[in-house]
Amino acid sequence: MQNAPNNNTPHEDLLQAAQAVRENAYAPYSNFQVGAAILAADGQIYVGCNVENAAYPAGQCAESSAISAMVAGGSLEIRQICIVKKGGGRVAPCGGCRQKLNEFAAADVPIFVQGEDGDLQSYTLGELLPVAFGKENLETDK
Ligand code: THU
Repeated sequence: MQNAPNNNTPHEDLLQAAQAVRENAYAPYSNFQVGAAILAADGQIYVGCNVENAAYPAGQCAESSAISAMVAGGSLEIRQICIVKKGGGRVAPCGGCRQKLNEFAAADVPIFVQGEDGDLQSYTLGELLPVAFGKENLETDK
């Protein structure tokens, strides 16, 4: 890996992977196209886009799709994630996706969000989901 993961710099291929998969977003109802790319502990990049449905609540977020791809690829540990949307502004993960990310990411994992204007913002999962409920709670609170 040429570009070691840290809190400030996304892996060099991550943004591009998120931007590329964003083009495949199926969002005919919201017209809000999102792409997500995860750098996993195995060094692989897993991508996903939002997939909407005529039955609106059955739609899936880009982050959730990328997590599914990661798990299907045999990896369970997120090191970085980048989320990009089409058009102006940036998108931060929804509440449900923050919880899904928490299953596979430590609190210090960086979440990069970028709009089409190129403006990049970085958060940690702990900032976006403080006092999280996770698998440790199930282990210790029995
Ligand atoms: N969406 C995502 O894919 N990721 C987010 O972080 C926020 C929202 C999708 C869900 C839906 O398809 C569309 O964006 C509008 O909410």
